[in-house]
Amino acid sequence: MKRELVIVIDFGGQYNQLVARRVRECNVYCEIYSYKTDLEKIKEMNPKGIILTGGPNSCYEADSPTYQKELFELGIPVLGLCYGAQLMMHVLGGKVERADVREYGKTEVLIDKTSSKIFTGVSEKAICWMSHFDYISEVAPEFEITAHTADCPTAAAECEARKLYAIQFHPEVLHTEQGKDMLSNFVLNVCGCAGDWRMDSFVEESIRQIREKVGSGKVLCALSGGVDSSVAAVLLSQAVGDQLTCVFVDHGLLRKNEGDEVEAVFGSEGNYDLNFVRVNAQQRFYDKLAGVEDPEAKRKIIGEEFIRVFEEEAKKIGAVDFLVQGTIYPDVVESGLGGESAVIKSHHNVGGLPDYVDFKEIIEPLRDLFKDEVRKAGLELGIPEYLVFRQPFPGPGLGVRIVGEVTAEKVRIVQDADAIYREEIANAKMDRSIGQYFAGLTNMRSVGVMGDERTYDYAVALRAVNTVDFMTAEAAEIPFEVLQKVMSRIINEVKGVNRVFYDLTSKPPGTIEFE
Ligand code: XMP
Repeated sequence: MKRELVIVIDFGGQYNQLVARRVRECNVYCEIYSYKTDLEKIKEMNPKGIILTGGPNSCYEADSPTYQKELFELGIPVLGLCYGAQLMMHVLGGKVERADVREYGKTEVLIDKTSSKIFTGVSEKAICWMSHFDYISEVAPEFEITAHTADCPTAAAECEARKLYAIQFHPEVLHTEQGKDMLSNFVLNVCGCAGDWRMDSFVEESIRQIREKVGSGKVLCALSGGVDSSVAAVLLSQAVGDQLTCVFVDHGLLRKNEGDEVEAVFGSEGNYDLNFVRVNAQQRFYDKLAGVEDPEAKRKIIGEEFIRVFEEEAKKIGAVDFLVQGTIYPDVVESGLGGESAVIKSHHNVGGLPDYVDFKEIIEPLRDLFKDEVRKAGLELGIPEYLVFRQPFPGPGLGVRIVGEVTAEKVRIVQDADAIYREEIANAKMDRSIGQYFAGLTNMRSVGVMGDERTYDYAVALRAVNTVDFMTAEAAEIPFEVLQKVMSRIINEVKGVNRVFYDLTSKPPGTIEFE
């Protein structure tokens, strides 16, 4: 696809993905690469602009991440942020030193050069997010200082003639009130991008590419009912129709009614041209899980059984040419294939080749998209909103929300409690604002009294967290009356429960799921 590209060179900063997202919000396509990426490769990509991210090191120390001077001599505009700004100065002959005090948090930045292309439309006194110990004590030759703060003489600098810009703060973080304007000024005004990267063109272009690649071949897709695999499946279906077969394994650990909902959308009564196979493997999974309490053992059993079921179905279908995976861009970055992130999750299987299905090639149609972009693509493709805005749901499903042994009875309890919880959160109009929320089942039973009878039943725990990236999370604040309503409905309507807890744990030290 011929499209304008801005690249983000990652020096290990925590906001690397955020920088790329903000650029894409300006309708400019953007990818992240490690600082170890060869200059030749960067030249080949012919980007319209380059952004250097922040990072935890000091650029003047010997082993710190760096980049060769030639990067700044390509004639391509470069914007350095925080560490990236310091590195630009360091490499080009300026001076970076350790400051006496760390500048951290929301800081008033005074713009000295209001005519700077980066600061077009930005207030002279701008609230910006600072996080640095080192500072630029001397700018490189040909550069001028364009902003400062009370503690920091160089909050921004530039060499307009060479299109090189350095910003000490973090425009990509929302606390920098006009940060998005600054990034948009860079990509549109300085780099001259047209800003025409849009979801409708992505969808159209992907469909064309998939058709070209697949030809008359057969395609197989494992559909989970989650956002990513649903959007991937619909994209494929629009491209190649019934050359696509989607296999949906119902492992009996889905949310209440979810299996039927997936079938209603994708099955023969649904809206799409594809072959849909639902495998009702509930009992198989319950049998395998009987007596197993250890969380990791449960995960492993569910994962392996899923593969076995899928393999059996794939055998029935016979050899296929392509296997679809719903890999998305953060999976690619977190698997260490883009940027400088450590390998966080190995289970994404990005570009990996499962050996249990007879196929020739993998198709990953969402590989370039962030989650919110996948959702936009989903809406563009006409997928129902309730599917597009589904919360994240773990592959092992309710298996990791039931503490201890999983049984059909416990699944019923947690499904019913969770459905009530979700209904009430939606009634309270909080369903789009909380990051992730669900009911889990503790392994605790306690004595209660219902009517005139003694009960000895389970305790349900309610979880609701706010999170930006799912790596850290905090308990969400839910009004007490909402919690009380959920509690009373669960205890009255769900047989087997006589106690409801609200889980206040943050991550770390907890995780979002119970196991
Ligand atoms: P934790 O529980 O690790 O969850 O704080 C972070 C995010 O990942 C989801 N999660 C999983 N997703 N397989 C998945 O596909 C899993 O085994 C798994 N465990 C947790 C979780 O729902 C949350 O969004």
